[in-house]
Amino acid sequence: MYITLTLNPALDISVSADDAQVGRLNITGSSSISCGGKGINVSRALRVMGENSTAYALLGGEPGRILAGMASREGVSLAVTRTAAPTRINIKVIADGGARQTELNGRGGPIAESELIGLFRSIKDDLDRAGASESVTAVLSGSIPQGVEKSVYNSLTAMLRSRGAKVVVDASGEALKLAAEAKPDLIKPNAAELGGLIGRTIESFGGLVDCACEFYRNTGVSVLATSGGDGAVYAGKEGVWTVNTPKITMKSFAGAGDTFLAAFLYRLRDGLGDALRFAASAAAAKVELEGAAMPSSLAEMAKHVGEIRAEKIG
Ligand SMILES: Nc1ncnc2c1ncn2[C@@H]1O[C@H](COP(=O)(O)OP(=O)(O)OP(=O)(O)O)[C@@H](O)[C@H]1O
Ligand SMILES: [Mg+2]
Repeated sequence: MYITLTLNPALDISVSADDAQVGRLNITGSSSISCGGKGINVSRALRVMGENSTAYALLGGEPGRILAGMASREGVSLAVTRTAAPTRINIKVIADGGARQTELNGRGGPIAESELIGLFRSIKDDLDRAGASESVTAVLSGSIPQGVEKSVYNSLTAMLRSRGAKVVVDASGEALKLAAEAKPDLIKPNAAELGGLIGRTIESFGGLVDCACEFYRNTGVSVLATSGGDGAVYAGKEGVWTVNTPKITMKSFAGAGDTFLAAFLYRLRDGLGDALRFAASAAAAKVELEGAAMPSSLAEMAKHVGEIRAEKIG
């Protein structure tokens, strides 16, 4: 059983406007709204693979209701803790067919302590009800809203691990650093996030591999580090593995990392090589689609597998 957590979801509004100027009336071309929550995205991708998950999320106000409706229509089971603060709205202004993008992102929150306690309690109660009969993989993803301590993923990791769950963290900055101290089973940084974690700038794929290995050696926490079109590296008890990416026409990067992670976890039962190949294929199939759209089937996610090589290098 999978659970995902999104503390800081966003309703994403994208508009196209080539020459938008601040302080002027700008006429937009196309416009769309989509669901911007990293944990929710992991649940959406798992759904396409036929896997049910419970997507815990803090949601508030009208944007929260719209987002919940969108996720439910895709078959995602949401476990919502309502917040007084409305869910943030992120605005993307897309120019030159996607070549230039201006983002106006809300911080999210403020979240009241009682709301966070309510969320923790609902996760705890659900896990205690499931008992030891179910093996649980929990994915904690994304930024931390105002009013919530940066140590929140650290506390959640400890709580989930004490209940026997396998914990995966996809976060950045201080939240990731503190989470790693609670020894989750896996972290999923991109190159910038892994660099931030170990205090170095990662400038090449070789550098990414070195940093992932060093982090695993020093902490015992497995690392799945992705690096856009360059591919990804895994360093953990199964050794060090790399995977490349297929050549594709990219449309939207949004959710590439979430899809990669969901697909990796889904295929892990077949071993590291298969998991990495399937993850790179599913993420590429995601990047080929516009906006937040997910591939529509398992077959679509697997369509690039034959073009991808996963190698055990250490
Ligand atoms: N241009 C591309 N071509 C092929 N595959 C890609 C491309 N960009 C990304 N991917 C795939 O998606 C994976 C994840 O991408 P990336 O490293 O950009 O994630 P991320 O920065 O965590 O993204 P996000 O957090 O926004 O979802 C990559 O490891 C790769 O497999
Ligand atoms: Mg990411």
